[in-house]
Amino acid sequence: MHDYSAEVPQSSPSVQAPELFTWAFAADPYPAYAWLREHSPVHWAALPSGVNAWLVTRYADARQALADPRLSKNPARHRERTDDEERARRSATSKSAHAKGKVGIPGERSAELMTHLLNIDPPDHTRLRRLVSKAFTPRRVAEFAPRVQELADRLIDSFANRGEADLIHEYAFPLPIYAICDMLGVPAEDQDDFRDWAGMMLRHGGGPRGGVARSVKKMRGYLADLSHRKRADLGDDLISGLIRAGDHGEHLTEGEAAAMAFILLFAGFETTVNLIGNGTYALLRNPDQRARLQQALDAGDTTLLATGVEELLRYDGPVELATWRFATEPMTLGGRRIATGDPVLVVLAAADRDPERFRDPDTLDLSRNDNPHLGYGHGIHYCLGAPLARLEGQAALGTLLRRLPDMRLAVEPADLRWRGGLIMRGLRTLPVEFTPRQK
Ligand code: HEM
Repeated sequence: MHDYSAEVPQSSPSVQAPELFTWAFAADPYPAYAWLREHSPVHWAALPSGVNAWLVTRYADARQALADPRLSKNPARHRERTDDEERARRSATSKSAHAKGKVGIPGERSAELMTHLLNIDPPDHTRLRRLVSKAFTPRRVAEFAPRVQELADRLIDSFANRGEADLIHEYAFPLPIYAICDMLGVPAEDQDDFRDWAGMMLRHGGGPRGGVARSVKKMRGYLADLSHRKRADLGDDLISGLIRAGDHGEHLTEGEAAAMAFILLFAGFETTVNLIGNGTYALLRNPDQRARLQQALDAGDTTLLATGVEELLRYDGPVELATWRFATEPMTLGGRRIATGDPVLVVLAAADRDPERFRDPDTLDLSRNDNPHLGYGHGIHYCLGAPLARLEGQAALGTLLRRLPDMRLAVEPADLRWRGGLIMRGLRTLPVEFTPRQK
């Protein structure tokens, strides 16, 4: 039942795989992914941390792998290979490719950061997801639209008269953090603390070190305390909704509600920063597409904005690789044998540029209609926050184009730097210039 496509392309020994995880790769990973899709679509790669994993780059394999119950999200299922051949290969490759940041297997940071939905399997996953879905409803998200619009306008007001801004720090970063704080019910006077803690996580790639670990601890401590206070005084906010959500007599405990709030924040923050950042950058680099969108918005038509945000997710999405998965039994994927315990990383960015699935995949086409991209994942872990992300992405990009119509890049593209980290893809800064405007 679970057998994947019969075609088994293997890299021939004479063709060298491109170097992965260097700074050049971070700036533009797409040529390397095209090579992998063609020559080694399920590729055993040495990651910057020294850990090895299978990289899955074709759309059809990626989609199947994301929905395959034999691939567990539980890091305890990881088993490092110990055979001699593997040891020899790793010592030969361990000197390369360190530029994209040191990221190991999630277990080393999962206790603090990645517990819950993203690293558990059914039946626990099914239960928790059902409970959180009761609180995080499409209606709650839709009701939030005016607040997101207000946030986008307020942030643009804060720099519009200067004629220049760093759109990552002044727009893409604060917008989702304030939005999710509002939704969770974090009081306004505490939201700047969240901004500081989240800023630390963003600057240092969510790793387990010093300041980041302290920020994570503070955030979790705060959320635990807030959940405790909310239990005594339930309101309309999401944390109260999480505490209230019950299912066949089951409830989230206060601790579970706090942890869920944390994962919502964690999963929904840097992703949205990157959607706004990568999306704006793609529009700046494709002036004809941007002009089309600007014209449509001027005419009051938001259809192109909706398809456009989906296309931006496909073209240069925030999540480059889906989170870790581990084989629970020997299996075949894209013609390769995967051993029990092997880590599997689905490369969403590669799958979403697969010419077997997308016409002219390297072209940005905001009106693309046939666009079943994997930017939000697929299967039971499909992004829970997708409706909120769409709302934020459309509000943020639409408002920016309407309010700063002559915005342009203030540096050469080659001078932009991408943040390190294996899973996410996003710019460190995005300096722009425009005609100064009053509110
Ligand atoms: C543009 C923004 C976003 C993108 C591109 C994105 C992408 C993704 C992807 C690819 C996954 C699946 C990962 C995997 O299977 O390995 C995922 C899961 C998830 N996302 Fe998002 N996300 C975004 C925004 C958000 C927001 C705003 C929230 C909530 C506030 C959120 C909450 C979650 C949660 C809780 C999961 C885990 C779901 C589960 O395991 O059942 N995401 N997201």
